[in-house]
Amino acid sequence: VQRILTGITPSGTPHLGNYAGAIRPAIAASRQQGVESFYFLADYHALIKTTDPARVQRSTLEISATWLAAGLDTERVWFYRQSDIPGIPELAWLLACVAGKGLLNRAHAYKAAVDKNVAAQEDADAGVNMGLFMYPVLMAADILMFKSHKVPVGRDQIQHIEMARDMAASFNHLYGEHFVLPEAEVDASVATLPGLDGRKMSKSYDNTIPLFAPAAELKRLIFSIVTDSKAPGEPKDAEGSALFQLYQAFAGAEEARAMRTAFEDGIAWGEAKQALFERIDAVVAPMREKYEALIAEPERIERHLQEGAAKARAIATPFMAELRHAVGLRNLA
Ligand code: TYM
Repeated sequence: VQRILTGITPSGTPHLGNYAGAIRPAIAASRQQGVESFYFLADYHALIKTTDPARVQRSTLEISATWLAAGLDTERVWFYRQSDIPGIPELAWLLACVAGKGLLNRAHAYKAAVDKNVAAQEDADAGVNMGLFMYPVLMAADILMFKSHKVPVGRDQIQHIEMARDMAASFNHLYGEHFVLPEAEVDASVATLPGLDGRKMSKSYDNTIPLFAPAAELKRLIFSIVTDSKAPGEPKDAEGSALFQLYQAFAGAEEARAMRTAFEDGIAWGEAKQALFERIDAVVAPMREKYEALIAEPERIERHLQEGAAKARAIATPFMAELRHAVGLRNLA
């Protein structure tokens, strides 16, 4: 069996990038024969970004409801919260002890924080917590705990999966073959979905389009996407356009081709935005209804998460015992 695993950090409202980059491909993959999939809420990771407990809880609920509304089958998939698996932070410690500090110095998220500080002539590590520095180690623990082969993610996460491979290989070398070396799986057409300003859609850039914004809000946001000043009738560059990238991520190949031609033929920006709104709304509207119903019943969602966590612990607990033994720790009786 092939194991597939991916997580989302519950630190905000799920957006189109999370859906197209992670949730949609992960659900499609989980339906294949001969796979076991592990999809989870990375709530320990959320603490790196926020110290607001209510936000973590709200976001956990929203992202869980999103997975379910998007069609995740909890009978087939291991669906759980990271913090319900106590072995994960424990494994993160074992991995921290084989991970080079130099490797982690190169992690994008940490490096970006340092570069920003240096540019502002601040102390290099100002405002950087150890959670941010350890982020790739915790993520490696998520992945290696369940011996996942494939990790479907957006492009921004590839480096972390390579680091997880690195840590797995070091550990295996030192203590014997315990871990599977994971690989990132990136869907090229949505590897980096752009946001309202054309940069990567991201909570940290404040340029996101919430997946389940009400239709009127969705429309307003789509009409606020930044475009160049080309007039109607002037040919437009599809590849360089956030509008087209978004359209392509929510359309079939045929429709995307037609839109590319419309760009070449000089479609007016207003018209392209209307088409994009209709395309996205057609995909999202049926899920939005399910989402609204789910979010009104948090106990039901919680039940799914608890069941998933029990299934996941049934794998994690004996594996942790194996690893504790391998490194020379005593196993609790
Ligand atoms: P997070 O919560 O930032 O993002 C969740 C997933 O959504 C993808 N994504 C995007 N894809 C395309 N275009 C975008 N604009 C876009 N924005 C986000 C991300 O690539 C990701 O796949 N550290 C991870 C969560 C995590 C994890 C893991 C993932 C924790 N442990 C183990 C995989 C395996 C994160 O913060 O993702």
